[in-house]
Amino acid sequence: MDPLQLLAEWPVAAALRRSELLYPTVNAAHILSIGMLVGAIFTLDLRVIGAFGRAPLAVLGPPLVQMAAVGVGLALVTGFLLFSVRPSAYATNPAFLIKLGLIAAGLLNVLLLRLGEGWRRALAGGPVTALVRMAAIASMLIWVSAVLAGRWIAFLD
Ligand code: HEM
Repeated sequence: MDPLQLLAEWPVAAALRRSELLYPTVNAAHILSIGMLVGAIFTLDLRVIGAFGRAPLAVLGPPLVQMAAVGVGLALVTGFLLFSVRPSAYATNPAFLIKLGLIAAGLLNVLLLRLGEGWRRALAGGPVTALVRMAAIASMLIWVSAVLAGRWIAFLD
């Protein structure tokens, strides 16, 4: 049986389609979680490229990384619930597919940054290397593009 069809018949997906309150609540939660994610990431990336210079990265970094992690986790869960309502339609929606690619690129960028020595040194109060700054600029461009692609989904429906 088609896995997308199976997902569409999932009782939670059926409840989201039936209830007038549940879908808007999950959609609002998706937007809130994106706000947490983008708000934390932008503040951190701007600090990395030199803004908010009086706030040490060693102090600002850890809580913002945690907020971004919670935001992305909640966005993935609420996004999956929204997806489950009409999986076959979304799976062929170019904006949705572009968004998934951008989310993967954004998460890969974070992973590569965190595995690198440069980020650890910057968090410990050392100099911020050009590579770390480039990763921060790439991060802002990727997540803004993911938000634009997310909003675009409904216009290609
Ligand atoms: C983690 C990063 C994510 C970002 C930045 C993001 C961004 C967005 C944005 C901006 C919207 C439009 C919200 C609105 O105006 O109502 C949206 C809607 C949506 N997102 Fe996400 N999203 C993310 C993750 C996901 C994931 C992982 C999925 C699915 C697996 C997903 C599925 C959806 C669906 C189905 C909609 C509703 C589209 C519609 O019919 O309007 N999202 N997303």
